[in-house]
Amino acid sequence: MTIQRPKGTQDILPGNIEKWHFIENTIRKICKEYGFQEIRTPIFEQTDLFQRGVGETTDIVNKEMYTFQDKGNRSMTLRPEGTASVCRAYVENKMHGLPQPIKLYYIGSMFRYENTQAGRFRQFNQFGVEVFGAEDPIADAEVIGFVWDLFKRLGLDDLEVHINSVGCSSCREKYKLELQRYLRPQNDKLCHDCKSRFERNPMRILDCKNPYCQEIINNTPTIDQYLCNECKNHFVKLQDYLEAIGVTYKIDPKMVRGLDYYQKTAFEVLAKGIGAQSAICGGGRYDGLVEQLGGQYTPGIGFALGLERVLTVLENQNINLTEDKKKLFAIISLGEKAQKEALVIASELRQNGVQVFLDLLGKSLKTQLKIANRLEADYALIIGDEEIDKDIVIVRNMKDSNQSEISRKDIITDIQKKN
Ligand code: HAM
Repeated sequence: MTIQRPKGTQDILPGNIEKWHFIENTIRKICKEYGFQEIRTPIFEQTDLFQRGVGETTDIVNKEMYTFQDKGNRSMTLRPEGTASVCRAYVENKMHGLPQPIKLYYIGSMFRYENTQAGRFRQFNQFGVEVFGAEDPIADAEVIGFVWDLFKRLGLDDLEVHINSVGCSSCREKYKLELQRYLRPQNDKLCHDCKSRFERNPMRILDCKNPYCQEIINNTPTIDQYLCNECKNHFVKLQDYLEAIGVTYKIDPKMVRGLDYYQKTAFEVLAKGIGAQSAICGGGRYDGLVEQLGGQYTPGIGFALGLERVLTVLENQNINLTEDKKKLFAIISLGEKAQKEALVIASELRQNGVQVFLDLLGKSLKTQLKIANRLEADYALIIGDEEIDKDIVIVRNMKDSNQSEISRKDIITDIQKKN
């Protein structure tokens, strides 16, 4: 029996990987412009990091982590998200000692044991940014403006930015009591998970996808009425900044997000036409997280977007995802002597920035031309014994099959002219 890839994972093959490169290159370029620097953290971490960071009452920690004992009997977990790891790295590498704010970004795989469906994978890729050391809502506006700018540059439209304030611990405490008071008479109608959320973290109930729970939460009181003055001012200022930079947004007072570390700002970007998994990006402020993970108090804000989902939206909108392609030259050699000469020519051309495909199998002219066609080569450079004797190379235009001869000694300059 053949072995298949694990459920919820994907092979990204040649032909498709170019689209990934295009998105990743666009991301890296815009990160540079905004002053974000790349960070790479381990793919697995101590389980405790996510339990403490993401929160014990979240679905991610409760149900979705790939956790295993290593050979030293330590509990390890494949990272389900990037923020906790980046905060750990911030503390461990004493980045609070550097001039703030620290602006970091990452691109990489995350792992969640989810029920798979279109747009929901068990291994998926996120691009995320984290900004440390900036308390003012201007940082929130810059981060949301960055996402807005990135999506615009990728050519995406029909997106909605939803924002909310989930308050700080003191306003949330008041809101939780109010939620419990409202939900208590209907507690027995809540799903099994929400019954346990009711005591431990009632705000999680707002995120439940169960249709019965949805109906109950339709009319719940919303957090905006319970925000303290500081959180309220922060949210009002954020809206003012977003308007100033031309970001269109909707306020969604029921958005709580699936992770427990958020305080004040929470936001999501939703795309139309990609089914139930319409959130292509989510983020918010996590001012208490660095301290919770053993560092000194440091405000933080960031977001992550799901690259698979972004790619689906781009493909649905028929957006061109290729970079300006360099010409491809296929070197076709006939005979042993010519094969060696082809190896030398390929090396010379590559050192001069030319993209070259070199036949390695010594096949017939017809087969090598077929391969060149399949690779969409622009030109074939043909060499046999006769060409070696005459010190020339035949250049064949693969589009119109026109052929000409160039002198061996001028090959670099002549080919560069066609490139
Ligand atoms: P999140 O909302 O859990 O936030 O994930 C961010 C994005 O990752 C989602 O909007 C979605 O596009 C994508 N995503 C999540 N789960 C899956 C999945 N199973 N399959 C495909 N795509 C998925 C976070 O992870 C936070 N760390 C974001 C953040 C950074 N907040 C502050 N800083």
